[in-house]
Amino acid sequence: MKVTVVGAGNVGATCAQMIAAKNIVQEVVLLDIKEGISEGKALDLWEASPINFYDTHLVGVTNDYSMTSDSEVVVITSGVPRKPGMSRDDLISINAGIVKNVTANVVKHSPKAKIIIVSNPLDVMTYVAYKTAKKPRNEVMGMAGILDTARYRAFIAEALDVSPRDIQALLMGGHGDTMVPLPRYTTVAGIPVTELIDEETLNAIVNRTKKGGGELVNLMGTSAWYAPGSAAAQMVEAIVMDQKRIFPCCVRLEGEYNLNEMFVGAPVKLGKNGVEQIIEVALNDDEKQLLIDSSKAVKSVMDIFDGMNIL
Ligand code: NAI
Ligand code: 2OP
Repeated sequence: MKVTVVGAGNVGATCAQMIAAKNIVQEVVLLDIKEGISEGKALDLWEASPINFYDTHLVGVTNDYSMTSDSEVVVITSGVPRKPGMSRDDLISINAGIVKNVTANVVKHSPKAKIIIVSNPLDVMTYVAYKTAKKPRNEVMGMAGILDTARYRAFIAEALDVSPRDIQALLMGGHGDTMVPLPRYTTVAGIPVTELIDEETLNAIVNRTKKGGGELVNLMGTSAWYAPGSAAAQMVEAIVMDQKRIFPCCVRLEGEYNLNEMFVGAPVKLGKNGVEQIIEVALNDDEKQLLIDSSKAVKSVMDIFDGMNIL
């Protein structure tokens, strides 16, 4: 079985490394537009295999999609981060152009692939890929919720001095400051988090989670890659191993949560067919409003993209 990761930058290379280390597929193809980058990183990762004990073969290619043929899953991380002087619209148009072009090539060579988008702005790039791929909605999804809940879970674990493995959490909405962490659906080994952490501390954790991406950009001058790469690899694993795991992922909603033709995060079941189920949990009025606000924020960027006539 083959998995392709497009974009051999920080997130793409980390994702390829995590997939390889899991020993779940025979081959990972790393593709980038920059000559030599993916060849070098794939070779470096292959040379790490005797040390880290994996058999996954790694292949690096420069823009040669024939080498990605018949991939089971393709992760798209190609794109540029926002640079000084660049407007939000510039970023949308550049990354939309990249995601559109990459998705078209992916579908041509791997018509059955499940596609996972990582490029930002995440929810809108998932929309671009969905429209370009012309595939059923279960085969095109975006990675954000696993990352955002991981940050939320890590902060809760730190506050309680417990293992992050024991924190289960749900988060919905767009990948941005309007995301909706849901304390009512957060537990510590089955114990509702609201019984263990006071409201003020929990609110501070929720706010830190919403700004989690920005916190890392401020520290490093670029966005994060270890947690994002690991999160995308976890989605790949759930699909290729048909694990039926429940994760928050960006999906096209068609009436669920009273949202139509919207791309936002929601709890889904991931298995060999990609998104096998969208789970509708009961939200109270406050949570519903937060989800509506987040969806409106995503929709405004979708509208900017639609106005650009890129597709
Ligand atoms: P990076 O700059 O390290 O890597 C991007 C790579 O994409 C570069 O190697 C570049 O050469 C390649 N690329 C550009 N155009 C291409 C094309 N047409 N075909 C193939 N490759 C192409 O960036 P990084 O840090 O890896 O981030 C990648 C994307 O992921 C960004 O858009 C970033 O904002 C996003 N991101 C999303 C997260 C999420 O939660 N969804 C989390 C972290 C990053
Ligand atoms: C992150 O959340 C910027 O989307 C990127 O780290």
